[in-house]
Amino acid sequence: MCGIVGYTGGKKAVFILLEALERLEYRGYDSSGVALLENGQIFLEKKVGKIRELVRSLWGKTLNSTVGIGHTRWATHGGVCELNAHPHLDQTGRFALVHNGIIENYREIRDFLISKGIDYKSETDTEAIVHLISLNYEGDLLRAVLKSLPMLRGAYAFAVFTPLEPGRIVGVRYGSPLVVGLGEGENFLASDIPALLPFTRNIIPLDDGEVVDLTPEGVSIYDFEGNLKVKDSIRVHWDIISAEKGGFKHFMLKEIFEQPRVVADTIKGYLSRDYELPFSLKDFRRILITACGTSYHAGLVGKYWLERFVGVPVEVVYASELRYADTPVGREDLVIAISQSGETADTRFSALSAKEKGATLLSIVNVMGSALSRESDYTLYTHAGPEIGVAATKTFSCQLAVLYSLAVSQHPQRNELMDELLKVPHLMEEVLSRSEGVKEIALRYTSKKNMLYLGRHLSYPVALEGALKLKEISYIHAEGYPAGEMKHGPIALIDENMPVVVVAPRDRVYEKIISNIEEVLARKGVLISLGFEEDKKLTQLSKDFIGVPQCSEELSPFLTVLPLQLFAYYIADYLGLDVDQPRNLAKTVTVE
Ligand code: F6R
Repeated sequence: MCGIVGYTGGKKAVFILLEALERLEYRGYDSSGVALLENGQIFLEKKVGKIRELVRSLWGKTLNSTVGIGHTRWATHGGVCELNAHPHLDQTGRFALVHNGIIENYREIRDFLISKGIDYKSETDTEAIVHLISLNYEGDLLRAVLKSLPMLRGAYAFAVFTPLEPGRIVGVRYGSPLVVGLGEGENFLASDIPALLPFTRNIIPLDDGEVVDLTPEGVSIYDFEGNLKVKDSIRVHWDIISAEKGGFKHFMLKEIFEQPRVVADTIKGYLSRDYELPFSLKDFRRILITACGTSYHAGLVGKYWLERFVGVPVEVVYASELRYADTPVGREDLVIAISQSGETADTRFSALSAKEKGATLLSIVNVMGSALSRESDYTLYTHAGPEIGVAATKTFSCQLAVLYSLAVSQHPQRNELMDELLKVPHLMEEVLSRSEGVKEIALRYTSKKNMLYLGRHLSYPVALEGALKLKEISYIHAEGYPAGEMKHGPIALIDENMPVVVVAPRDRVYEKIISNIEEVLARKGVLISLGFEEDKKLTQLSKDFIGVPQCSEELSPFLTVLPLQLFAYYIADYLGLDVDQPRNLAKTVTVE
């Protein structure tokens, strides 16, 4: 994962790099560093820990460089220490490089470099690249990079500069994200668009297999053979304010509360018939949804809607599983890849391999210009704006809005069904207005070590998502399970110490899940239930009951997921944990 950034222009690079790195911190945050050009030499500063550690160590230093690169790390190769933190230098100290991704053959390259007498210092794969570029340098940085690329295997994005050619940065994208930002007399590089929003809205997202040559005066893009390419920039309309906390304690909380608005924005995009797809969903033999994590859970909800409103069989497969499976995929299949970032390696590569086999590839993506959106036959955007909290919240609801709109788009009662969806943002507001009640309940469970989340039918993926939220930000072990399956194993876990969160809106399986609740109670499980308000039965049975407004069974996931996000948030916050940047996680997972 990791985040990389580069700047060349007329301003003090250090401030720009640090601000951009803070915006990229969600991609990785175990260590960080910058390299600048000071008095003709590379100035290097690296620190273990959050970017604030780097800021502290740079505090008070006079740094006038107008060119530099920076990095925030999520370790893949080598432990977390200053030596392994980026930027890395070649052994002559003339080249500095930051990298995101994995060089799969770095051991071979390292052995080759050592055989040439090079002192390979770190445990990283990255160091191999900078030594190679240094070895291949004959007075032109771009040529040295192009000469080095054929030796690299894996997925990577990197940026490199040298005092020998002041003001020049060369960046490469191959399997990991990299975008170029265009300014007046200054240009930028970053792993992600939000990092550049304070400085420019004019962005060129690079494609895999592209090299960019950046100076303050201009940007040139080449393929790996060195042929010049002509690329248009896009103008990004994301509001910078939406990338700030706006008075909330954490981005996650702000993003939870933004959901009614961003879901409304997303629905708006799919109300008119303009977006209609040039094919009939019914004509496909099968729809195969692939995604990871929270996006996978949205896909599971989408399956119910697509099967109900389109009538085509739908399979939902984890992208990391699909990629190496023998699942037959072909021209008769529609593959829907769902990804907030549009850069998740597992999702991209499994979707691309299905496309290569002839399937039609439709993606549901939040980040405009991301790799997946460009690689797909069709892209439907979620209009969630930048999601900074590492735990996905608002993008999940927006993915649901797109999946529902898609599922009903060719249905004879589309207008009535969309009218139902239009009521959702207001109902979501009502749920969120009762957040204090959820907080009160959540605070009773902060000392628990395990929790079970159960749901059936459309509430099963919601239970999975609730459990994922809890474990990733509070580090409490939580397991999501289909309620009807509990008796086939997990029931053995239930005793008076096990809180069981049951998602039970009054739907077609309501009576069934009440029976499952009885099974929990018979074993003294501690029941926290989530259902439609004024549900007397649930209130009676539960230790704690959370009510959401009545809505159609189909739309209940939009409402039931909200208290579960809040529940996880309040527990993690009470425990004093880093809600926005939980340990070991990164927002965009560009490694397999
Ligand atoms: C969970 C979470 C992750 C992501 C997963 C996929 O809160 O954020 O599970 O959902 O890494 O990421 P995208 O949607 O960017 O492909």
